[in-house]
Amino acid sequence: MAGVLALRVVAGLAAAALAALLLEHYGMAGPPSPLPKPRDAQRPHPAPGSGAHNVFWGLQISDIHLSRFQDPGRALDLEKFCSETIDIIQPALVLATGDLTDAKTKEHLGSRQHEVEWQTYQRILKKTRVLEKTKWLDIKGNHDAYNIPSLESITNYYRKYSAVRKDGSFHYVHSTPFGNYSFISVDATQRPGPKRPYNFFGILDEKQMEELISFSKKSSQSNQTIWFGHFTTSTILSPSPGIRTVMSSATAYLCGHLHTLGGLMPVLHTRHFTGTLELEVGDWKDSRRYRIFAFDHDLFSFADVTFDKWPVVLITNPKSLLYSCAKHEPLERLFHSTHIRVLAFSSSPITSVAVKIDGANVGQAAHVSGPIFILKWNPKKYSNGTHTIEVSVQDSAGRSKSVHHIFSAKENTHLKFDPLASYILLTDHYIVARVLFVLIVLTQLAILITFRYLAYPELKEPPGFANMTAFSLHILGKTNIFYYSVLLLTLYTVLGPWFVGEIIDGKLGCCFSFGIFVDGHFLQGGLTFISGIMQLVFFNIPLMAYICWSLLQRCFGYSFRSHLHQGKRWKIISIYLLMLLLYTWQVYSCYFLHVTYGTLAFFLSPLRTWLTLLTPVLIRYVWTLNSTGLGIFMVQLKSHLSS
Ligand SMILES: *[C@@H]1O[C@H](CO)[C@@H](O)[C@H](O)[C@H]1NC(C)=O
Ligand SMILES: *[C@@H]1O[C@H](CO)[C@@H](O)[C@H](O)[C@H]1NC(C)=O
Ligand SMILES: *[C@@H]1O[C@H](CO)[C@@H](O)[C@H](O)[C@H]1NC(C)=O
Repeated sequence: MAGVLALRVVAGLAAAALAALLLEHYGMAGPPSPLPKPRDAQRPHPAPGSGAHNVFWGLQISDIHLSRFQDPGRALDLEKFCSETIDIIQPALVLATGDLTDAKTKEHLGSRQHEVEWQTYQRILKKTRVLEKTKWLDIKGNHDAYNIPSLESITNYYRKYSAVRKDGSFHYVHSTPFGNYSFISVDATQRPGPKRPYNFFGILDEKQMEELISFSKKSSQSNQTIWFGHFTTSTILSPSPGIRTVMSSATAYLCGHLHTLGGLMPVLHTRHFTGTLELEVGDWKDSRRYRIFAFDHDLFSFADVTFDKWPVVLITNPKSLLYSCAKHEPLERLFHSTHIRVLAFSSSPITSVAVKIDGANVGQAAHVSGPIFILKWNPKKYSNGTHTIEVSVQDSAGRSKSVHHIFSAKENTHLKFDPLASYILLTDHYIVARVLFVLIVLTQLAILITFRYLAYPELKEPPGFANMTAFSLHILGKTNIFYYSVLLLTLYTVLGPWFVGEIIDGKLGCCFSFGIFVDGHFLQGGLTFISGIMQLVFFNIPLMAYICWSLLQRCFGYSFRSHLHQGKRWKIISIYLLMLLLYTWQVYSCYFLHVTYGTLAFFLSPLRTWLTLLTPVLIRYVWTLNSTGLGIFMVQLKSHLSS
C-alpha cells in the first residue's frame, strides 16, 4: 500500500512539474497583442534600378574575445579591421555583438574582468578613429559580464571603455533620405553577473521585456527593423510572451555566442515562426569571421565572410529566396526591378563583375559608384520557378570571388533551413533541460520506490539479465542504508544547495539545480539544469547501478577480493574502468569548482567535494556489510538457483 501511495505521489509531482513548466513557457492564455502588426508590404516601388541611392550597408562582428593571455592576433587583426576593412567597406554602421573581451583567468577555466583587455579594446577604437568613420554599436556578451556584482561596480568596464557605454538594451534609428531603419539591441546579460560557467544563458526580466516591447512599437515607424544581441534566442530565458514574439516585427535578429559551435555548424541560420530571420555569425576569436548586410530598396541581404579575404561580394538584387520573407520585406519589388545589383569591395580596384543565371552568361555588371555594380535584366523572364544567380568578381591584384544563390522573381515558395541549425536556434534549451532533468529524477525515484515496496516475485525462469537486475534492485530497495543513501543523493541533487561560495568576488551565493541565489538576487537556472542532468546520468545513476551489481555479487557469496578474481575478467575490468572514469570526472568537477568559484566553494560543496569523499565510504560499506544483513537475499537466491 505504501508503495502504491508513494508511486502516486511521484506521478502527481511529475504531472504538476510538467504542467508548471509548460505554463510558465506558454502562459495561461495566448499572449496579449501588445506588438505592432508587420508593416504593409504591398509597396512595389521604389524598385531596384540603376541608381546609387536607396541602399546602405553595415557590418556585424561578434565574439572578439580580446585576451591578455591568448592570441594577441585578435587585437592586431581587430585594429586592421577597424582601419583597412572599415575604410574599404565604409559601412553605415557596425554591430559588435558581445564578448568584446575574454575575461578568463590564466588557466582558461576561471573568469574575472581584466581592465587591460578593455583598455586594449578602447585603444583600438581610438587609435583607428573608427568611431568617426562609422556608427559603432557595441554591446555586452556573457564574457563581458563575468564576475560583476552590479552595473554600478567599477569592474563593469563596459561603462568606461566601450563605444556605447550605456548598460541595457537600446533603439538606434539610422536615418537616410530614403527612409528610417531601426536597430534594436537586446542586452540579456545576467545582473549581477556570476562567474563562469553559470552565466551561459541570458536572462530578461519583465521590466526589460516591457522596454523591448516599447522599442518594437516605436520601430514600426521605420522602413525596416533589425534586432541584434549577443545570445541566440535559444539561450535567452524570457518571460511571456517570449523573446521571439517580442521581436516578431524585425526582418532579422543578428547574434553570436555559439561560435558556430566551434566550426561544427558553419551556418547557423534559421527563421522564426514569425518570419524573422535568426542569423548567428561566426566568431572573431578563432575564425576571424564577420558579416556584411545591406538594405537595398528595403530588401535585406547579407554575406558571412572572412577577415582579410578580398573581394567581398554581396548580391542585393535579386536577393536569396532562402532569406526572403514576404511578411517583412516588399518582395514584389524584385519582380518590378530593372537591374541586377551587386556590392563588390576589394583592397584593389575591381576589374570584372560577371553575372550568370542558371549557368548561362548574362553579362558584365557596370560600375555605378562606390561598391555598387548593376546589370540590366528582365525579371519577367524568370517568373516561373526558381533560378540560380552566380556572380564572379575579380580585382586588379588577380584575386577573385564567386558567390551564388537561388532566387525567385515571383514565386512565394519557401526553401528550408538546415533542420539541425533550426533545432539549435529555435529550441528553448533551458526548457528541454528542465523537462529532461525532472523526467530523469522521477524515473529514478519511481524505480527506487517501486522496488522498496514491491513484493518479491515468484522466481520461475532461469536467472536472466532482467531477472537478476530486478533482484538486485529488490536488494537495494530493501536494504535501508543503501536505499536511503541513493534516495537522499537524488533528492539532494534536486533540492539541496550544490555549493556555497563566491559566485561573484566578495559576494556569497548558493547554487541549486534550479538557479543561483547571490547577494539577494535569484538567477533562474539554465546551465544548472544541464549540470544536474550530467550529475544524474554520469554519477548518481551509475553509482546506483554499481551498488546493485556489487550487492548481487555479495549475494553470490563473493567478497571484494574474490569477485575481482572470478572468471569473467574482462567484464570486471571494464566495469571498474568505467567507474574509475566517472569517479575521475567527479574529482575533476571538484577541481573545476575550485578554479571557477574559489576555495570556499570547493570546501562547502555537498554535491562535489563531500560526495567525492563519501562515495568510497558507501562502496566500502557495500563490501563489508556483514552477511546477516544480506542473509535473507542469499537464501532466496540460493533456493532460486537450485530449483
Ligand atoms: C521608406 O518608407 C517611406 C515611408 O513609408 C517611403 O516613402 C520610402 O519609399 C521607403 N524607402 C524605401 C527605400 O523603400
Ligand atoms: C524619418 O524620421 C524622421 C523623424 O521621425 C521623419 O521626420 C522623416 O520623415 C522620416 N523619413 C522618412 C523617409 O520616412
Ligand atoms: C510559365 O509556365 C507556364 C506553364 O507551366 C507556361 O505556360 C508559361 O509560358 C511559362 N512562362 C514563362 C515566362 O516561361
